[in-house]
Amino acid sequence: AYQLEIYGQFNPPRYPTDPTQWEALARRSVPSPNFMYVWGSATTGATCRANLKAFESRKIIPRMLVNARVKSTEVEILGRKYSSPLICAPVGVQSIMNPDGEEATAKACANLGIPYILSTASTRSIEQIAQASGDGDRWYQLYWPRTDEIAVSLLDRAWENGYHTLVITLDTFQLGYRPGDLDNCYLPFIWGQGCQIGFSDPVFQRLYAEGAYNDPTKPGSVFDLLSRASNPFQACKLLYNALTIKKSLAWVSEISGATYRTWSDLPRLKQHWPGKILLKGIQSVDDAKKAAQMEGVIDGIIVSNHGGRQVDGAIASLDALDMIMSDETVKNSHLTVLFDSGIRTGSDAMKALALGAQGVLIGRPMMWGLAMGGEAGVEHVFRCLRADLELNMALAGITNISDLNRDILAFDASSK
Ligand code: FNR
Repeated sequence: AYQLEIYGQFNPPRYPTDPTQWEALARRSVPSPNFMYVWGSATTGATCRANLKAFESRKIIPRMLVNARVKSTEVEILGRKYSSPLICAPVGVQSIMNPDGEEATAKACANLGIPYILSTASTRSIEQIAQASGDGDRWYQLYWPRTDEIAVSLLDRAWENGYHTLVITLDTFQLGYRPGDLDNCYLPFIWGQGCQIGFSDPVFQRLYAEGAYNDPTKPGSVFDLLSRASNPFQACKLLYNALTIKKSLAWVSEISGATYRTWSDLPRLKQHWPGKILLKGIQSVDDAKKAAQMEGVIDGIIVSNHGGRQVDGAIASLDALDMIMSDETVKNSHLTVLFDSGIRTGSDAMKALALGAQGVLIGRPMMWGLAMGGEAGVEHVFRCLRADLELNMALAGITNISDLNRDILAFDASSK
């Protein structure tokens, strides 16, 4: 079906169909610091490179004379049927790629039936995106606030607005060391834009008005964060538009709250969320096993290293998936396992699915689509990836996602 969408057209496509061209076009479409924020990763970029290399080191072994007339990329994730395993990753501050920001990506996903995960660091509110996505399938990603009352308020807003699955991101309770952003002194501006969920939250508004973030003795207070502006250029930028910056730093200190969290805090969060819960950022077998032990609280994990943006020199996310899905306890558990970090093509998606992921999240490629052409650009990227996945599967002799397993993969150590 998706192959016809791509080949059945008589007009040349508006945007390139070669995935490697999307990044190049995005680079030309937005100001350099904005592009760098999305492109960038931790310190040396080693984790990001490892993510990509891990895909290269696994090769697909095609099978022939398989009746490939009927093809399906349909999957079931957490009890819901989707026409493809592609999911929109939660990505913050999307308006730095296109003024329509999260509204454009949410609409594109709704048009295609792709689950949309709204980030807590969005440039639109929970309510605005619920409206933009309409009947679309939507999930909510939580950066876990320090203040429980705010966490509960965010969860209530998300649930009331039709977000049915909660993704708790565990790997970003503070930002990684990202030289590109440090050199640009750009983060306060990025943060300022990614605060709409916080600024629109009634509990945060009340606490802010009451001066809850003015106590210089509290770690993570506005003063604490401002005192780190040692670079004069950055200090000038901080003073510029001080009110927004002050408020956004207050919000950032809130969502750095997971710094203080441990596994034992999860059941408390579950009391406020009637839907499914996924933990995002799992990379170790032990952590996956811990999640597996929490049946009734945790429904699944997203194996992810945040696109290599957090820990430098870390394990490739695909290698982590391989290890986690080789563990009998995890394999036989109730957990739904999703994957992200490094997927750029249909073949990449296929490899992650073959290693046991039930669905895959797309991060940067979706942002390149947003920069290329807003809603239409995001749709284009997802359409291309869907068609690429469907064709690649069929040509390798796999006609259903459920037929994908690790037997179709060979390990090519030379490309490591
Ligand atoms: C992210 N990611 C992310 N994750 C999350 O849980 N909440 C967030 O707000 C963000 N924000 C964000 C911004 C930008 C610019 C990027 C590139 C990424 C991580 C994202 O969900 C996903 O894990 C990675 O993007 C996957 O890696 P690839 O596909 O970009 O290689």
